[in-house]
Amino acid sequence: MTYANNSPIPITVLGLGAMGQALAGAFLDAGHPTTVWNRSTGKGEQLVARGAVRASSAEEAVRAGELVVVCLVDYDASDKVLTPLAGALAGRVLINLGSDIPQRAREAAAWAKEHSLDYLDGAVMVPVGVVGTERALVLYAGERAVFDRCGSALKAIGEPAAFLGEDHGLAAAYDMAMLDFFYGAMGGLVHAFALARAEGIDGAALAPYLNTIAGILPDIVERTGADVHSRVYEGSGANLAMMTASVEHILHTTKGRGLDTGQLVAIKAAAERAIAAGHGPDSWSSIVEVLDER
Ligand SMILES: NC(=O)c1ccc[n+]([C@@H]2O[C@H](COP(=O)([O-])OP(=O)(O)OC[C@H]3O[C@@H](n4cnc5c(N)ncnc54)[C@H](OP(=O)(O)O)[C@@H]3O)[C@@H](O)[C@H]2O)c1
Repeated sequence: MTYANNSPIPITVLGLGAMGQALAGAFLDAGHPTTVWNRSTGKGEQLVARGAVRASSAEEAVRAGELVVVCLVDYDASDKVLTPLAGALAGRVLINLGSDIPQRAREAAAWAKEHSLDYLDGAVMVPVGVVGTERALVLYAGERAVFDRCGSALKAIGEPAAFLGEDHGLAAAYDMAMLDFFYGAMGGLVHAFALARAEGIDGAALAPYLNTIAGILPDIVERTGADVHSRVYEGSGANLAMMTASVEHILHTTKGRGLDTGQLVAIKAAAERAIAAGHGPDSWSSIVEVLDER
């Protein structure tokens, strides 16, 4: 069955943590009859008040939906819930929007294939408050034909729904790469505030200046993507040797104030390995070549 644009279809959401509730709420907002289930009681009362049907078991919930969206803490949890439900899932589309590693997504896809189930794997890349808005990014991977059948219903949680390819591990792989960037940046962010505090600078005073750095990141991301794609690392504007000297200044200041040095030491070590490999005149992106030496 193909789900026409905006036509209501029965959707089940398994898992009413913060994200499961946001997803179910977005399906309700879009007018889809929505059935919900959660392992423990007491979650999602406001969804029921808005018209969601609460199933008394995961199996009852699955049987109520044509699309079954599962969003639990990880794939240990979703395997536990879904394994006994292969029979009930037959003829439905199963979409796992919980986060885990690419290998677990591929294993889940192999299990679904073994039971002849239509399966998409996905990842929600935005916080709960953004789900269902035009800024929501939700990634999907799996069989293209399955995605095409239900893509319009998935617009309720994020539009455009981003289809990445037929390898079921791809949504998790993009998720990992994006979160790698996010947490690396988050580590730098809190360290910058610690360094500033140690130098007598108030956090509120620093924040607007840090935002000027955040503002140049989109261009840097684009340029780095192009460099890594071509494996040409043109560094005439800002070369790696100069930037590594800058890292050394931050490290020196950090040590002088007795602050934690872990992330900076790791960054400097990677940069020095790239310089030793001959990338000193190249761009910062050339460090990729020593991070991935396969
Ligand atoms: N929250 C966000 O901003 C956000 C953003 C992007 C992606 N995500 C991803 O979305 C997924 C869910 O996150 P969340 O924020 O909803 O987490 P959460 O609020 O901690 O909820 C976790 C959910 O998993 C269920 N669960 C855990 N172990 C279980 C088990 N063994 N059997 C059955 N159910 C189990 C919990 O059920 P109980 O209520 O019974 O404990 C609950 O429904 C995660 O993979 C997370 O990485 C979240």
